[in-house]
Amino acid sequence: MSLGQKTFFIETFGCQMNVHDSEKVIGTLISQGYRQVDSVEQAELIFYNTCSIRDKAEQKVFHRLADFKKLREQGKKFAVIGCVAQQEGEKIFQRAPHVSLVAGSASYRNLPQMLVQIEAGQRATGLDDRQSGETFETEFTARSNPHRGYITIIEGCDKFCAYCVVPYTRGKERSRTSGSVLNEARQMAESGYTEIQLLGQNVNSYLDPSEKKSFAELLAAIGEIPGIRRVRFTTSHPRDFTRDIVEAIDSVPALCDHVHLPVQSGSSRVLANMSREYTREQYLDRIALIKAAKKRRISITTDVIVGFPGETEAEFEETLSLLDEVGYDGIFSFKYSARPNTPALKYADGIPEEEKWRRLQALNAKQREIQIVRFGSHLGEKIEVMVEGSNVARSQLIGRTSQNKTLNFTVPAGAAAPALGGYAQVLVTRTLPNSLVGEMVS
Ligand code: 5AD
Ligand code: SF4
Repeated sequence: MSLGQKTFFIETFGCQMNVHDSEKVIGTLISQGYRQVDSVEQAELIFYNTCSIRDKAEQKVFHRLADFKKLREQGKKFAVIGCVAQQEGEKIFQRAPHVSLVAGSASYRNLPQMLVQIEAGQRATGLDDRQSGETFETEFTARSNPHRGYITIIEGCDKFCAYCVVPYTRGKERSRTSGSVLNEARQMAESGYTEIQLLGQNVNSYLDPSEKKSFAELLAAIGEIPGIRRVRFTTSHPRDFTRDIVEAIDSVPALCDHVHLPVQSGSSRVLANMSREYTREQYLDRIALIKAAKKRRISITTDVIVGFPGETEAEFEETLSLLDEVGYDGIFSFKYSARPNTPALKYADGIPEEEKWRRLQALNAKQREIQIVRFGSHLGEKIEVMVEGSNVARSQLIGRTSQNKTLNFTVPAGAAAPALGGYAQVLVTRTLPNSLVGEMVS
């Protein structure tokens, strides 16, 4: 550590895309001579990588900024990046005058220049107008986990679902070339990574600018890289989800037995109002494709929004019945939250907050019952896990299955415990609604 080196602290809110963006931002800052520190107090430059997907996420950022107003007197500088930055733009300077940099994700490739500006005491902005066709690629990505890592294959979103801010916060859809993605994956494999997670707002609309590979072909090619044992991808859009993806999973062992396919609602009328571009029946056809995999049992998870404007009780019940029909292994459930600029703002017939809560709880109670059965079906199975951590209090290791389930396990006396990031075979001896418990077998 050289004395006098510039220091930064970064806090990240939001989704995996944001987590991975931060890894790239950290790498860029380090390449520009900055050193990362663990606290706001130690840092000269403080970064907030923000999320605006729902109102709570957004409020958190403004609370943080208000908390740190005083620190400006100590010469600290603040940078607000990510989705709230893009959404609020220069208004952030008015609301939080101690901020020096406001930049959305589509402008991160200009970070080095923006850093020069703020070091010179100026304010810098990097705001996208949905024109940019460029992706943010850097050789300096500072991945936080040495065993499993993210690769962005497509940025932005052109879907414009009625409730969603992402098309406004992350700009227009732009894919990386398959060659560039494969190079990054090979380099990761060479430096010891065994699991790769491909990221994009909608990975299924991946369109290789070099026209060499479809999404399914890219997936398969990554799964065939020597040393790569697991490949995951998120998020899929049902409209663009095609049979060849299932065929790739079925034929390439390294592709994980898991598809996250957000449905949002089980009612075709609500789906139409959400501009999702599929009906309940069309969604179920996609599910049938996944269930038709010949060699693998592919786990399915989803996202659901309850209380979208105008959702009737009967329509909500259609979502409940869809959960039964699909048999999800997991759901992420959200109360509808009105977002700036989005088309859904035009619907006046909002659902009261208490009613949204009631629906959310009913949904989660139903899903819990489903998971008791689904997780229960693993009892007695021998499953491979990647070791992700340990629970010292319970003398257990924490593993993750290919289906993306947590499997906590003990190591029999006398056997060598697998290392973090290693793989183990585990016999499932007990099942819970959200996780599995077992013992390592040789
Ligand atoms: N309100 C509630 N949930 C939302 N999501 C996206 N936008 C909103 C919103 N305005 C949920 C969707 C999406 C997930 C990432 O977040 O379910 O799939
Ligand atoms: Fe949040 Fe969406 Fe931005 Fe991710 S892309 S940080 S979920 S608003």
